[in-house]
Amino acid sequence: MGDFDADWLGLRAPADRRARAPDLPLLLRPQLPNGQVLRILDLGCGTGSNLHSLAPVLGGAQAWLCLDADADLLERLPDETQAWAQQSGLDWDASDQRVTGAEPHLTCTPHLNCTLATRRFDLARNLAELPIDGIGLVTASALLDLVSETWLAGLVSQCAKVRVPLLMALTYDGRVAFEPALSLDREVIEAVNRHQGRDKGFGPALGPSANGRLAILAAAQGYWVEVRRSDWRIRRSERELQAALIRGWSRAAREEAPASDEGAIAHWEAVRLAAVERGCSRIIVGHRDLLAVPRRA
Ligand SMILES: C[S@@+](CC[C@H](N)C(=O)[O-])C[C@H]1O[C@@H](n2cnc3c(N)ncnc32)[C@H](O)[C@@H]1O
Repeated sequence: MGDFDADWLGLRAPADRRARAPDLPLLLRPQLPNGQVLRILDLGCGTGSNLHSLAPVLGGAQAWLCLDADADLLERLPDETQAWAQQSGLDWDASDQRVTGAEPHLTCTPHLNCTLATRRFDLARNLAELPIDGIGLVTASALLDLVSETWLAGLVSQCAKVRVPLLMALTYDGRVAFEPALSLDREVIEAVNRHQGRDKGFGPALGPSANGRLAILAAAQGYWVEVRRSDWRIRRSERELQAALIRGWSRAAREEAPASDEGAIAHWEAVRLAAVERGCSRIIVGHRDLLAVPRRA
């Protein structure tokens, strides 16, 4: 089991879904080849949240290859996909891991016919062996803030060589706003953002600067780049998600801050959790989505 257990991914999934920039997949669609199966590589797929959001919007024939280092998450992905398909009114065929149908509110999108395959793959160690041949789209969600500058530059350069588009969703950008506000909020989030730079297996992590660096690296490799805000807007009723975030931020801030600040951060956590419990806390967490399409030769 890695750092991202299935419960956490399930908890964040509704906020992720609401946050994603709706127009980027629409801008991407006309850039994709017509009449062929679109082969999609999903990096750090977890339990399939990116597939569940993107596949119905893109529509048509798709073959997803979902990569993750965590075997437990990969094992759960087909069941999560079946549950998502049922909730969305789509058909799931377990024998060949295929989702078909059309979402009722997307009647103009070509009928979805999407297969999925999973592979255990350590992206940090094996970037040079990324199975990118014949891939028509490289995508990821909530991954890039974990990676290093060197890793990201390597990914972009590999993708540019085969002129494959990139759609990278939900990269944390360092902005957090709380309601009600507390005087320690800024200090805590600054400490959290420093903590984000710690090595997550890929070398020193880009954290909040990942999306900006990707935009620059992709443009330098001849990509046309579009960036959108995709902020989590966490509702008062989403108490469990808020509490998990506050506890995680408090832990990270205490690891970064001098010991003399620990009491103040623990107090911050207690006040925040009490506000969540009373149902009067809302949180906005800044994220970005990025689409990069190779410019025509
Ligand atoms: C925040 S989760 C996002 C999961 C999924 N994309 C989503 O949006 O729910 C980050 C994912 O990256 C995966 N991951 C982290 N380091 C990895 C590595 N070195 N190789 C492959 N996957 C990795 C984790 O196992 C986890 O599934």
